[in-house]
Amino acid sequence: MPDNDQFEFNPSMLVNDPYPIYRALREASPVAYIDSLKSYVVTRYEDCTKILKDINFGKQRITLNTHDLEKQFLAVNGDKYPQTEEKSILTLDPPDHTRLRSLVSRAFTPRVIESLKPFVRTITSSIIEMNAVRQFDVISSIAAPVPAYVIAKMMGVPDSDRDNFKKMSDDVILSLDPSKGKEDLMKSIKAYYELASYFNRLIELKAKEPGDDLTSSLIKIRDTGGKLSHSELLSMCILLLVAGHETTTNLIGNGFYALLRHREQMDILKNDSSALKNGIEEMLRYESPVQMTSRSASENVFVGDIEINKGRRIITLLGSANRDPAANDDPDSFNVERKNIKHLSFSEGIHFCLGAPLARMEAEVVFDLLLLKYPDAKIAAEPKWKENITMRGLESLVIKP
Ligand code: HEM
Repeated sequence: MPDNDQFEFNPSMLVNDPYPIYRALREASPVAYIDSLKSYVVTRYEDCTKILKDINFGKQRITLNTHDLEKQFLAVNGDKYPQTEEKSILTLDPPDHTRLRSLVSRAFTPRVIESLKPFVRTITSSIIEMNAVRQFDVISSIAAPVPAYVIAKMMGVPDSDRDNFKKMSDDVILSLDPSKGKEDLMKSIKAYYELASYFNRLIELKAKEPGDDLTSSLIKIRDTGGKLSHSELLSMCILLLVAGHETTTNLIGNGFYALLRHREQMDILKNDSSALKNGIEEMLRYESPVQMTSRSASENVFVGDIEINKGRRIITLLGSANRDPAANDDPDSFNVERKNIKHLSFSEGIHFCLGAPLARMEAEVVFDLLLLKYPDAKIAAEPKWKENITMRGLESLVIKP
């Protein structure tokens, strides 16, 4: 197995600016074994796309790094929490993946997403009005609350519970970062089970008094036809809540930061709202909110010249694939008018992001209003990136309107 210790896959360097490291890997060792991650890291657009589309690269065994810790956690705390497995469509292979995904895909059709648009517009406008002040943080005031309101509405979560989710949701995603140690993984497992407890109570309430929401529809499916177990229902609710939060926050935050640093690009979008759809694809490409995802080889297989043994973990670096010059010309420049944008920010294949249409719609509404309300916004303080090499987003983005 070729060892690529010469590539420093150093978490703090990756957090600040991952792109020079990605470029070095892409050019010198596009399928590299990184010992500290116990994984192969794949950096070119074409290789990543092939792997993500190939069902021989599955999700089996990937969660093993948290498996033992979860057992330890449950040995001590098991009686406090509902029984569930940390397995959702995101971590399952067919046929379970196919069965479960088909149960929720109806909630993300273009018609459903379009019907949510007026709600997104109303809450975004009222949040923006509340922030008509001298200086404020775009992340905590707009980029975080808008997706949280939307997913809470879809899931039928009462407004009063919304803020509790932020911390739990932030902690759950720590386990998506392969460089995190035991302490963070334990935090993630605990937050996962706390969310499971919360949803267990919500499901009990909604089973008695169903609402017009996704949780109530899924309870109905659990209770008729045997297609969904209670534990699968819990995992699904947690996945939707977590997946709908931080990712979209990061799209809005990273996108606005890119615009503020490239004024001429901001001017293009300010002067022509029909350019926004393409601009959002460029924001997704340029600073992918999710930088990587994993698969494992179900057979011994070659990727390029490198043979990967059955069961080995493979990390596809989406953020690197998006900056591969073989996919996009001049990939390190931010160009909202870029033609034929190629990006893997929503992944590819059977796990392609279910919430992509929702995230795109939310971003369109938010940027439309942000650019109208703050056409001359300026960065007031140099922002810091969050300490997570998988979820790329800013801790805060303070602007002067
Ligand atoms: C900009 C925002 C978003 C980004 C960048 C994003 C990114 C991703 C990525 C990369 C995956 C696939 C991971 C893999 O292949 O292993 C994924 C899956 C998923 N996303 Fe998103 N996501 C976003 C927003 C959302 C929203 C708003 C929701 C819904 C509430 C959502 C729900 C899901 C679900 C349910 C899956 C699992 C699909 C499956 O495994 O079949 N996402 N997302």
